[in-house]
Amino acid sequence: MASYLQIADDEKGHDLDLFCVPRHYESDLDKVIIPHGLIMDRTERLARDIIQDMGGHHIVALCVLKGGYKFFADLLDYIKVLNHNSDKSVPLTVDFIRVKSYCNDKSTNSVRVIGGDELSTLSGKNVLIVEDIVETGRTMQTLLSLLSECNPKMVKVVSLLVKRTPRSSGYRPDYIGFEVPDAFLVGYALDYNEYFRDLSHICILNDQAKEKYKV
Ligand code: IMP
Ligand code: MG
Repeated sequence: MASYLQIADDEKGHDLDLFCVPRHYESDLDKVIIPHGLIMDRTERLARDIIQDMGGHHIVALCVLKGGYKFFADLLDYIKVLNHNSDKSVPLTVDFIRVKSYCNDKSTNSVRVIGGDELSTLSGKNVLIVEDIVETGRTMQTLLSLLSECNPKMVKVVSLLVKRTPRSSGYRPDYIGFEVPDAFLVGYALDYNEYFRDLSHICILNDQAKEKYKV
């Protein structure tokens, strides 16, 4: 079982005033739940765990856009540092895929894959899927079943966040950064209708903001 840093349901978080938050979002957020620095520190360790398990073979890192892009970039930077500074190193190539399953703050039943290279290029490869957050698990299960049709040699999934929710299908990624309460989270590339990707910390969105940015 993957280990992770648990953020408790009664986590009070940190006052916004203690950190730098863009002015245009100040009234939309109540608390900072995971400060950027903690995300980085946990990501550094995930990079080490992944290389320990998957190292030795060429890895194709597959970024699930758009929400995964910050985590993907930072995780790969840490993997690069390991490659630069150890006797063993692994070639790393990248690929991108875009999936969409959310409208407002609700997961929809349809998971659409849009864009990215042909998945068939992943045939015979060791693939590391890099995702921002797993909630019901439907997005990842859909992606994994699409990918399995292309016969990759190995597939591992790393998700920065996993939500504790009764809506979960039970799916768990191979590597997990944090387990988080059942709330709608934004920041560090996680969005609400495309807003809040330009916020460094992970925060809980307040109800007023859900109305304000509703489509
Ligand atoms: P799932 O298919 O229900 O596991 O949902 C996964 C996808 O929904 C993630 O890749 C996110 O893009 C999106 N998502 C789920 N929960 C949140 C959240 O709290 N904030 C932002 N996006 C979320
Ligand atoms: Mg995502």
